[in-house]
Amino acid sequence: MMKQKKIVAISGSIREGSSNTNILKSLATFIPEDIDYTIYNGIKELPHFNPDIDRMKPPAVVEDFRKTLDESHALIICTPEYAKGVPGVLKNALEWLVSSAELYKKPVAVITASPSTSGGDKAHESLLLTLGMLDATVVKNGSLLVPSVRTKFKDDATVTDESIKQALIALVSSIANEINNRLTL
Ligand SMILES: Cc1cc2nc3c(=O)[nH]c(=O)nc-3n(C[C@H](O)[C@H](O)[C@H](O)COP(=O)(O)O)c2cc1C
Repeated sequence: MMKQKKIVAISGSIREGSSNTNILKSLATFIPEDIDYTIYNGIKELPHFNPDIDRMKPPAVVEDFRKTLDESHALIICTPEYAKGVPGVLKNALEWLVSSAELYKKPVAVITASPSTSGGDKAHESLLLTLGMLDATVVKNGSLLVPSVRTKFKDDATVTDESIKQALIALVSSIANEINNRLTL
């Protein structure tokens, strides 16, 4: 029997009512029915990355995080920019994946959303560098900046801006195509 196709999403914001988490929720509408889509909300539980702990048996939360990504066919990240960079909680989570390599060649899409007009471009650029170091594969249409985010979504995770909606549909479609192409190879 074919393994269930899975996409995991991670928000770089762990606050209640996060606009980035809402964007990830809004994507559920566009995900094909044969793909299981889950927002992983455990990154706030991960300890600070420490190579000493990494060399010993890592804590259960780290094992769970790695297993979740290992079992997924693709990853979608949506994050704010904090202090012109990637929020520490997200960067910390990615550091736990350096030695275990769950993102190696994995299809990935990256969205950065901010109330500012820059869309969080510095965090976006930095995140792409980190994903490059991890050898993840950023898919076609898989890199999206959402400036002035508060004018483009309703609170209940519904996208109201048509061009952003089309960009999100293209991003999801690209991720789904990449999963399907790999499974038919
Ligand atoms: C500590 C802190 C630093 C921030 N730094 C930036 C920044 O460098 N660039 C930016 O565009 N927005 C910055 N912001 C604003 C965030 O983009 C804004 O709070 C956003 O709504 C957070 O995303 P969320 O709604 O998903 O939590 C910062 C916010 C905080 C709390």
